[in-house]
Amino acid sequence: MSSSFEFTRENQKKFQEILKRYPTKRAAMLPALHMAQAQHGFIPPEAEEYIAGLLDVPIVDVREVLSFYSLFTQTAKGKHHIKVCGSLSCWLRGSGEVREYLLEKLGVDEGEMTEDGKFSWETVPDCLGACELAPMLQVDDYFEGCLTREKIDKIVKERT
Ligand code: FES
Repeated sequence: MSSSFEFTRENQKKFQEILKRYPTKRAAMLPALHMAQAQHGFIPPEAEEYIAGLLDVPIVDVREVLSFYSLFTQTAKGKHHIKVCGSLSCWLRGSGEVREYLLEKLGVDEGEMTEDGKFSWETVPDCLGACELAPMLQVDDYFEGCLTREKIDKIVKERT
C-alpha cells in the first residue's frame, strides 16, 4: 500500500486562493497545516513532506512549526479526544488520579485510541484556563472541571 498524502482537488483550489493572500509561500504554512489536519484528522509524515514541497521549504521547517503549536497533532485521534490539564493547579488537585481513571475506564494509554475509535486522550502541559475548577479536562470543545469519577463516567457515557 502506498502511503502518500495530497490535498483533495477542492482543497488544492482553496489553497491556491489562500496563497494569494500571503507575500511568500512559506508564510502560508499555518493555513496549509490546518487544511491538512482538517482533511486527514491528523498530520502524518507524508503530509509534512507534501506541505514542504508545496511551500518550497525544507521538511525540517514544517516539523519545527508542528512541534511548536500544540493544536496540531501527528497521531490519529478518537472521535472524541480528551485533554487532561497537566499544569500545576490541576496537578495539585488530582490530575494524576484523573489520568489513572481514564486509563482504567477507556482501557488505553495516553496517545492511543480505543478499539472502536471513539476515544483517545492525552495530558496537555498548558493550563486549560480554569484553575479554580481544577482538576480540569477538555473533551472536543467542551470543558469540565472539579472532576470526579462520576463526572468522567458521565462524559464518556454521553459520547458512547
Ligand atoms: S492548571 Fe489546570 S486549568 Fe489551570
